[in-house]
Amino acid sequence: MNQVTLSTLLRSLLAVGLTCGALAAQAQDVAAAEATIKDSKCSKCHSVDKEKTGPAYKKVAEKYKGKADAEAKLYTHLTTGPKIKVDGEEETHVKAKGDDAAIKNLAKYILTR
Ligand code: HEC
Repeated sequence: MNQVTLSTLLRSLLAVGLTCGALAAQAQDVAAAEATIKDSKCSKCHSVDKEKTGPAYKKVAEKYKGKADAEAKLYTHLTTGPKIKVDGEEETHVKAKGDDAAIKNLAKYILTR
């Protein structure tokens, strides 16, 4: 094997490695996220692509697109019960049910709609 083929080979191996890393960072369990949504009754006010009482998850994903702290922001939103307006009345946003991992997974799910 000459020098050129070897370096081409190494470069493709590196590319494969990077792709796997990127996929792992995006890894999410869609079924688990949907179960958390069901458990927490989020669908009363949200859907993936329709505006209801709350914004569509697609819209939320758009709002946070390219923001490094997006997942942390949603995690806070879903764990601290911030004040929101529902039909002009101030309410406390519901907290998502489940452990840390489940809520982080849910945040990833919403951000990738
Ligand atoms: C009673 C209705 C209601 C329920 C139930 C509800 N939400 Fe919301 N949600 C809202 C409203 C209204 C807003 C908009 C708040 C604002 O923009 O001030 C909102 C905002 C959000 C946002 C956007 C936050 C942001 O930073 O832009 C996300 C994500 C979200 N909700 C997810 C969920 C999830 C997940 C659940 C279930 C655990 C849930 N919501 C349950 C009404 C609700």
